[in-house]
Amino acid sequence: MSTSTHQPLAAAPSLNLAGKKVVVVGGKSGIGLGIAQAAQAAGAQVVVASRRVATIQERADLGNFEQVSLDMRDEASVRQAFAGIGAFDHLVVTAAPDIGSWGGFMDADMQGARSYMEGKYLGSWACARHAAPLLRAGGSITFLSGGLAVRPKPGFAAVTPAFAAVEALSAALAIELAPTRVNTLRPGFTDTDMWGFLPAEVRAGLKEKVAAAFPARRVGRAEDIGHAALFLMTNPYVTGTVVEVSGGETLVDSVS
Ligand SMILES: NC(=O)c1ccc[n+]([C@@H]2O[C@H](COP(=O)([O-])OP(=O)(O)OC[C@H]3O[C@@H](n4cnc5c(N)ncnc54)[C@H](OP(=O)(O)O)[C@@H]3O)[C@@H](O)[C@H]2O)c1
Repeated sequence: MSTSTHQPLAAAPSLNLAGKKVVVVGGKSGIGLGIAQAAQAAGAQVVVASRRVATIQERADLGNFEQVSLDMRDEASVRQAFAGIGAFDHLVVTAAPDIGSWGGFMDADMQGARSYMEGKYLGSWACARHAAPLLRAGGSITFLSGGLAVRPKPGFAAVTPAFAAVEALSAALAIELAPTRVNTLRPGFTDTDMWGFLPAEVRAGLKEKVAAAFPARRVGRAEDIGHAALFLMTNPYVTGTVVEVSGGETLVDSVS
């Protein structure tokens, strides 16, 4: 006769989001769009929020999402947007100000550094602050940082502290907002419109170098990050952590 005290295995959590409502701030492009599409494919009702609202003629690919206008730099706009959205289950914040608008440390003044920190860090803060009271039981918040949080590069001295601050906020909120789960996704190079500021041949060359150097031997795609976001939204035992989806970027020499 067995004397085992092991509990029978419960069903493993699935990536299914049927019946759930997901809000993706930054969900109209790039990584956010990849996450919005993944959430919708998993059965969720998806709201995408950012500054611009597109018509169906402009953006047929957004036709299945509810669009909300929100400027994450403006707390009143964030508060008003979430009040209009009402109760929901999972918040994902991918939006950030334009990285190309900020230069190297010695070229910057305090206003430049403040601009990125306010947009990325305090913008993420404001979204969490005004969404948290609306999250249903079992809900989660997912922020987005980037490999620069732990692997600084010359010319991005404003970005590294903003990403690191987002990761630290995520851990702090996992404690303070519990049992709401709070995590951060840390992508590596992901081929999105964010890189549109580069001339086409420079962007193509960068992608080739990334594919050659990163252990995954290819560039990242928005759907790679979408897949990881589903994991963070649906696994009930993951909180206060950073999940890196970078193709191994932070293990190898910087590519530029
Ligand atoms: N792509 C990469 O290789 C990579 C790697 C590591 C980390 N990241 C980080 O991932 C995040 C998203 O990157 P991405 O590639 O998805 O960029 P993206 O395609 O440029 O998307 C940025 C989104 O942010 C929104 N946005 C910008 N300013 C906003 C504001 N003030 N309020 C509300 N929404 C705003 C934009 O929409 P509107 O213009 O409509 O407002 C857009 O939907 C960024 O934080 C970036 O630093 C990206």
